[in-house]
Amino acid sequence: MPYPYQLKTLQAYKEAYQKSVEQPEEFWGDVASHFTWKRKWDKVLEWNFEQPDVKWFTGAKLNITENCLDRHLDTIGNTPAIIWESNDPEEHHRVLTYKELHFKVVQFANVLKNNGVKKGDRVCIYMGMIPELAIATLACARIGAIHSVIFGGFSAQAIADRLEDAKAEYIITCDGAYRGAKAIPLKDVVDDALIGNHTIKKVIVATRTRTPVSMIKGRDIWWEDEIKKVETHGNPDCPAEEMDAEDILFILYTSGSTGKPKGVVHTCAGYMVWTNYTFVNVFQYEPGQIHFCTADVGWITGHSYIVYGPLSAGATSLMFEGVPTWPDAGRFWQIIEKFKVNILYTAPTAIRSLMGFGLDFVNGSDLSSLKTLGSVGEPINEEAWHWFHKNIGKGNCPIVDTWWQTETGGVMISNLAGVTPAKPAHATLPLPGVQPCLLDENGALIEGNTVSGNLCIQFPWPGMIRTTYNDHERCRQTYFSTYKNFYFTGDGCLRDENGNYRITGRVDDVLNVSGHRIGTAEVENAINMHAGVVESAVVGYPHDIKGQGIYAYVIYDGSHGDAHLSRQDITHTVSRIIGPIAKPDKIQFVPGLPKTRSGKIMRRILRKIAEGDVSNLGDTSTLLDPGLVDIIKEGRI
Ligand code: WT7
Repeated sequence: MPYPYQLKTLQAYKEAYQKSVEQPEEFWGDVASHFTWKRKWDKVLEWNFEQPDVKWFTGAKLNITENCLDRHLDTIGNTPAIIWESNDPEEHHRVLTYKELHFKVVQFANVLKNNGVKKGDRVCIYMGMIPELAIATLACARIGAIHSVIFGGFSAQAIADRLEDAKAEYIITCDGAYRGAKAIPLKDVVDDALIGNHTIKKVIVATRTRTPVSMIKGRDIWWEDEIKKVETHGNPDCPAEEMDAEDILFILYTSGSTGKPKGVVHTCAGYMVWTNYTFVNVFQYEPGQIHFCTADVGWITGHSYIVYGPLSAGATSLMFEGVPTWPDAGRFWQIIEKFKVNILYTAPTAIRSLMGFGLDFVNGSDLSSLKTLGSVGEPINEEAWHWFHKNIGKGNCPIVDTWWQTETGGVMISNLAGVTPAKPAHATLPLPGVQPCLLDENGALIEGNTVSGNLCIQFPWPGMIRTTYNDHERCRQTYFSTYKNFYFTGDGCLRDENGNYRITGRVDDVLNVSGHRIGTAEVENAINMHAGVVESAVVGYPHDIKGQGIYAYVIYDGSHGDAHLSRQDITHTVSRIIGPIAKPDKIQFVPGLPKTRSGKIMRRILRKIAEGDVSNLGDTSTLLDPGLVDIIKEGRI
């Protein structure tokens, strides 16, 4: 068996869990011994949560790409590492074996080197879902450059902010990207992002849509031309840079409760061990299986379960360029039939959307290859869980409901497919190494079962966030200051009579829209940029498909025309400032916002109104202008 640390029975899980708590260093030292190191660690773990300062495998040297590529060459070199399915069902798919992927990564690593990229440099990657995205990511890791992948749906302004924060020096992008019926001009967006930027030295552009692009002399170069230059130098070789266990592997920006996204930092060794361990155990991956994670590499799910987790395990990872509903709502099911997919890992929002199209699309495809189903990104409601289980899994496939976050690097709470029991709408039990607990508002530990509270983690795990880029204090403030000596997740949570965890959603001002994390403050900032807007407040409300929708209350100086056009303008502004994913679903114009005498917006009231639950708004007597509430209630959309 290739994964000696794969847990095959409930008993094995229980024993592993106990050992991970009682002897964490021995436990993780054992797991880590199955990886390729250039030098072994001196110490498995050093930590304190006060700073915070967490170090795993100190003194160890490695390169994650040797674990994802080189170590597989002799054994499974001719096995597919990446299978790529185009947006266009008519276009031929691509297969890259481990040998081929290794070749391409090494080759592109040499391109990066030729263009002056060095260890520690920040390289922004803004691409569509083509194999070159994975190649670019791995090529950075090969030479020790820090990648910062930005999801292709973010706007120029959002990219500009992230480039500035990371002081990025290079960008890898595409001319354009296909998404369903649309072609998105990525290079144009990058050009806009670069107006006024002083840190970017080179932009490498891969060809995909061959839409017209403006290539600026001295700055912009084509991927394919650069490959030719390294090709002429004969068989490419690019030794893997020796990285310290705690050197930065990547930065990934995510939203918080302030207006500014933060750069979550993951480091080489811990992240590698964690994504591999969780991949192999949660999905119970077996060699030869085809793993299809439908996320975009621009999010942590894609980093961990399209690229690093599967590849470090020698798995075959299916990468899909398109969307679930184009050309029709049978796309996922056709892909599963076409490649005999064994593991499907997707988001509740996709399931709910596909449910709405009826079973004809599902029944048109042979789904009998499926062994395991997975859900991620938001709470999965029971209805969606049962639909998924019955109609996609045909009642035979375990569903893993995987709770985790950008900051956790990999899955934290989940059943292990077919090994530990599932419970609909419950993430169930913590993985070995994860010590969750619930705390109340006053910071008291809530013991026992059938309880609820704020979800915290009381001990480090290898894949945890190390810092927020260039701003360690922000990391401390956000995650380690609410509760002393605990990592605070920002999620509310129930623990049932058997100790199963059920995550109920964010308790901070963070929204989860279609599994995408968006800060209310970020959306408010964007809305407030619009010339006619005086002030705004944004809250979430339950949305049948997206999980949460975005509801904006806007004080508007409406002298410029009709409400419909004004709403459109505000929506367009948000699209320009953040991206289409942050567009409000509803905009209500209000004469004022309900504030306390100290000027704090009472979001609780706004949330209730947006939810349509106006019968009991609680105590409104502390409001500066209680009369406002009735006006807002009446104007509800
Ligand atoms: C937030 C993290 C995890 C990768 C994708 C999202 C919510 C995530 C679940 C789940 C209930 C979930 C939480 C979490 N969430 N998975 N299985 N059940 N809620 O990563 O953008 O960092 O968002 O997503 O609220 O805090 P992210």
